Amino acid sequence: MSSHIIVALDVDTRQEALQLVRRLGPAAGHYKVGLQLLTLAGPDLVRELVGMGKQVFLDLKLHEIPNSVAAAVRAAAQLGAGMVSVHASAGSAVLRAAAEQARSVGGIRVLALTVITSLRDDDLPEIGLAPSVREQVCRLARLASAQGCDGVIASAQEARWLAQQLPARSLIVTPGIQLAGLGGHDQSRVATPRDARDAGATHVVVGRAITQAPDPAQAFARACADFAQPD
Ligand code: C5P
Repeated sequence: MSSHIIVALDVDTRQEALQLVRRLGPAAGHYKVGLQLLTLAGPDLVRELVGMGKQVFLDLKLHEIPNSVAAAVRAAAQLGAGMVSVHASAGSAVLRAAAEQARSVGGIRVLALTVITSLRDDDLPEIGLAPSVREQVCRLARLASAQGCDGVIASAQEARWLAQQLPARSLIVTPGIQLAGLGGHDQSRVATPRDARDAGATHVVVGRAITQAPDPAQAFARACADFAQPD
């Protein structure tokens, strides 16, 4: 069973989610539940996945006052989630509250989201930040790590320099993944599971490349084989 490949369950219903989980079978052990599915299917689905022996990354992207973030981390842990995400731009007090709460309840790790991957250097001034994205990502990742967060969510490109800057045990969870050999992608902008791993990712998040594949189980197996490929 692979837990390095986290399959994003970006669907609307419990039925669709469970159908995917069944199709992927015992080989797939780690799922990401985000705001779409949590909002529409509710927290029972997370309990159900955990009851099936799956690890769940609850991608809540928390950005709130410290007390509320700590309460949400506790709630995620109570559901059985093993990872939860917090916006690093919420600041040190929030990050510390999240990390302390996670340590106190146990069983859950806090991932800091630095700069969302859809933002480019040109987008930063309108939200009051100076370019570059890279500097922001580095600053926020170091802040999150110093406050006790377990890791970061980062693109493969960012993973390469974050892996050198963060403590060795840090988690680097990388989305924006495509599977090699599939047509229709600009290869220069595609990170495969192996690219991400080589850049320093400890986990990759794969959504549509698996869930919308004609044969999701086969696509999942390809992702696992690619991630595990020797250098
Ligand atoms: O693109 P894909 O379907 O693999 O996306 C899976 C998940 O990864 C999404 O739920 C999204 O939160 C995240 N993602 C991201 N940055 C990207 C692409 C996807 O954070 N560039």
